[in-house]
Amino acid sequence: MDEITALAKRRGFIFQSSEIYGGVNGIWDYGPVGVEMKRNIREAWWRDVVALRGDVVGIESAIIMHADVWRASGHVDNFTDLMMDCKTCKKRFRADQIAGIRCPACGNATLTAPRAFNLMFKTQLGAMEDAASEAYLRPETAQGMFVDFKLAYQAARKKPPFGIAQIGKAFRNEVTPGNFIFRSREFELMELEYFVPPDPEEAGLRWHRYWVDQRYDWWLALGVQAERLRKHEYAGADLAHYSRATTDIEYDYPFGWGELEGIAHRGTFDLSQHVHASGKDLSFFDEETKTKYLPAVVEPALGSDRALLVFLIDAYEKEDDRTVLHLHPRLAPYKAAVFPLVRNKPEIVELAAAIERDLRPRVRTTFDDSGNVGKRYYRQDEIGTPFCITIDYESLERQDVTVRDRDTKQQERVAISRLESYLGEKLR
Ligand code: GAP
Repeated sequence: MDEITALAKRRGFIFQSSEIYGGVNGIWDYGPVGVEMKRNIREAWWRDVVALRGDVVGIESAIIMHADVWRASGHVDNFTDLMMDCKTCKKRFRADQIAGIRCPACGNATLTAPRAFNLMFKTQLGAMEDAASEAYLRPETAQGMFVDFKLAYQAARKKPPFGIAQIGKAFRNEVTPGNFIFRSREFELMELEYFVPPDPEEAGLRWHRYWVDQRYDWWLALGVQAERLRKHEYAGADLAHYSRATTDIEYDYPFGWGELEGIAHRGTFDLSQHVHASGKDLSFFDEETKTKYLPAVVEPALGSDRALLVFLIDAYEKEDDRTVLHLHPRLAPYKAAVFPLVRNKPEIVELAAAIERDLRPRVRTTFDDSGNVGKRYYRQDEIGTPFCITIDYESLERQDVTVRDRDTKQQERVAISRLESYLGEKLR
C-alpha cells in the first residue's frame, strides 16, 4: 500500500485534500492522471450498466434531499457506528475495535459504554438554525432512485424489470477512515436500483443471482485477477432484516480481504418506507394487466474511488528495471504517449506534434519531450499508458514511427497513415 500511495502522489493520481494546510483526514483530491482514470471507470460502468442495455435509465438527484427522506430510509435512526470515549485522554474509538476494558491510546480503564454515533454529515438550509432547516449530505445515492421512482419510470415509460442508475458523491463521517482511499469521508458511489415484479419467491432471487454474476464478470472483463476476487454471501443474523439476499464481491487488498461491491436484494423495503412516510402512492401500475404493485429491488452498489484503488493495486507490478501498471486499456489515463526522439530537430518535433494533434479527437494522448526516451518510457509505464509512439530521424524519410507496447516492451514500425487504425484495433 505504501508503494502504491507514493506512486499515486508522485505521478498525479491522488493528492491529500488541502495538503498545504496539513490535509484533511479521509478526504482526497484527484490529480491530472487520476481524474482521467476515474472518468474512465465511471464511463466503463455507465456504458456497461446503462448505455448498452435497454432496461436501465439514469438520473442525477441532488446531494441534499428533504430531511424526511433520511428518516424514512432509516438512516437517521440506524446509520450509526457504536463508539466508546476515553474519559482520560478524550479519544474516541469504534466499539468493535476495542478488546478488553482499557483505552488503546492511554491504557486507562476509563472507557464509556458504547454509544451510537450517526455517520451522516448534518447541515442547515438557509439562515435559520432550527429543526425545520435541518439537512443532511446524502450518505448514499440510492434514496434518489426510490424517491424519484415514479417520475423516472413514467418519464422513461419503463416497466419492471428495469433499473434506475446514478453516479454521484456520497458523504459519511467515518470514524476510522483509512487504507488510503479505501474508506473515505467523501467518496463517489455508482449505484443501480433494479426493480423487479413481485413474482413468486424465485423470480426475485433469480435477478439477484443475475446481477451478482454480471457484476463479478465486469471486474474480470476489466482485467482484475480472478484469484484476488471472491463472493461473500451473507446469511442469518448478518443479513439486514429487510434483505432477502446480500452478496459482497470482495478483493484481496494488501491489508487483507475486504468489500469491493455489494449486491443486495432489498425486497420492497425502501419503496414501502417512502409510501408510508410521504403518503404518496409509489406503486407501479401495469397498463396491460391493470394491476398495481410495489416492485422489489436488487441493488448493485460500488464506490468508484474504491474501484480505482483496486484497479491500481491489481495492475501494479514491480519488475527489475521498472514499475508498471498493467491497466486495462479502457481504464488507462492515456492510451498513447507521443515522443519526438530529440528536442533540437524542429522537423521531428513538428511531425510529432502533428501526429498527436491528429490522434487527439479519437485517442486520449499525452505528449512528452523531456529527458531521454528511456525515462519517458519509465514515466508512462508507471501511469499505465498502453502505447508509446516515438518519432525519429527515419520517420521523416519513411513516414513511419516506432510503437512500443507497455506490457511486452516489444517495438514495431507502423506507417503514420495506419497509426490510428492500428491503435484502434489494439485498444479495443
Ligand atoms: N446503497 C447501498 C450502499 O450504499 P454500502 O455497502 O454502504 O451500500 C456500497 O456501499 C459501496 O460503496 C461499497 O461496496 C464500497 O465500494 C463503497 N464505499 C462504502 N463506504 C465507503 C467509504 N467510506 N469510502 C469509499 N468507498 C466506500
